[in-house]
Amino acid sequence: MKYKELIKRALEARKNAYVPYSKFSVGAAALMRNGKVYTGCNIECASFGGTNCAERTAIFKAISEGDKDIEAIAVVGDTEDYTFPCGICRQVIMEFGRDIKIIVAKDEDNYQVYTISDLLPSAFTADDLD
Ligand code: THU
Repeated sequence: MKYKELIKRALEARKNAYVPYSKFSVGAAALMRNGKVYTGCNIECASFGGTNCAERTAIFKAISEGDKDIEAIAVVGDTEDYTFPCGICRQVIMEFGRDIKIIVAKDEDNYQVYTISDLLPSAFTADDLD
């Protein structure tokens, strides 16, 4: 699947963002190596710590459906700048592969591609627990 299509799915998912507190909508779409896509939005909570980012919503949907092999994740915020995954999401993404591509997008024509290793250098991973 091309990144443009993945970004489109993230833009669609962003419409479902539940953001009564920040009003900052985020959408994400995780492409699996088997071609499936899992989308997610951010979901906020009056007890703020209960908030879940769009990226983790998409990832947790995938993992809970038995899909772990993530190829790429597209992320769209709703400002003029690119929205990059927060620190917690970077760590969760790293859990499922050092080479996962992160596509931060404004729209289908304006995006940047990184790997999670670019965004989380010197990561603490399962290897450190050996
Ligand atoms: N948020 C995401 O969903 N993903 C990001 O990459 C950055 C932040 C959400 C969390 C919260 O609902 C809102 O954006 C403001 O922090």
